[in-house]
Amino acid sequence: MGNHVETLRWNGSAIEMIDQRILPHRIEYIACDSAQSVAKAIRDMVVRGAPAIGVAAAYGVALEAILRKNEASNVFSTSLEEGFKALAASRPTAVNLFWALDRMRKLWETHQAKNQPELADIFLGTAHEILEEDIRINRAMGEYGASLLPDGSRVLTHCNAGALATAGHGTALGVFRSAVEAGKRISVFADETRPFLQGARLTAWEMVQENIPVTLITDNMSGHLMSRGEIDAVVVGTDRVAANGDVANKIGTYMVAVLAKRHNIPFYVACPLSTIDLSLATGEEIPIEERPVDEIKGFRDCHWAPEGVSIRNPAFDVTPAELVTALITEKGIVDNTTLTAGELADFVKKNQ
Ligand code: MRU
Repeated sequence: MGNHVETLRWNGSAIEMIDQRILPHRIEYIACDSAQSVAKAIRDMVVRGAPAIGVAAAYGVALEAILRKNEASNVFSTSLEEGFKALAASRPTAVNLFWALDRMRKLWETHQAKNQPELADIFLGTAHEILEEDIRINRAMGEYGASLLPDGSRVLTHCNAGALATAGHGTALGVFRSAVEAGKRISVFADETRPFLQGARLTAWEMVQENIPVTLITDNMSGHLMSRGEIDAVVVGTDRVAANGDVANKIGTYMVAVLAKRHNIPFYVACPLSTIDLSLATGEEIPIEERPVDEIKGFRDCHWAPEGVSIRNPAFDVTPAELVTALITEKGIVDNTTLTAGELADFVKKNQ
């Protein structure tokens, strides 16, 4: 699928994003031509998944510059600043968004002397680079991760860390794809991932498209399967990793990690270096998005909760480093169980 369906594609004047809210029933693309429209697409979950959000944000900045390149310089700068602000406010947890915005801002600072059309071209070129780079990173991570999975592995994943969550190939699902490409027989258990159902709708769809054996389960079934010896490993993606190795990912990941520890099942996190946030000492500092309560009341038009009930909807949780067996990065595997203070930072700095 990574090779057949493009999550994000440039059409010559706009960035088109596959509308992930209506998958797998319909395949439709939404075109965005400004920072504000990209920010809205991120907020509304048209595009989601940490690396994909980062790529989209880079295009958002480029599109704003293209849109305003012939305006007066004060209009150009103000619109760009407002674009950065809207994109930064679109979703709080995935650090890739801020990583991409920082990269674009540094570019702006470095190329102050360029005229506006030149700057717009430079932004667009970098957005293309970030997209291409993401696919290369996922392929490298996939190869490292595949080496951890013996032939015949039955692997559980949570949420969707697939081609749809990235520019292509995927992080956790990239590991499965690479293992299959290497000739291994891999079967996947996909948690449905309440409340937004990224597992049931997106992960299951990606795997079915490629004939990778996949079994869909509800989120409360993995403990049972683990206790019966039916799961050999867990591989998930991540939205942000703190300097001590604590991992933020889709709500429910922490429960899976606790269960995996209880059953001595390795718990791997596929993590591009751009997802590691060395400015945060521990996972406690990672901002956790609270999403609209309607997502819990039901799904789409079908509501089952009583009116007036109090609802919480934290969209992510933090898995402490001690529950994570290893981080799979594009530069190699980091053994998380023996991670000492500063070691992850050294690894990131050495490999950036
Ligand atoms: O709310 P979402 O769908 O954006 O959450 C996505 C996840 O939690 C993914 O697991 C994470 O972004 C890693 S994607 C490679």
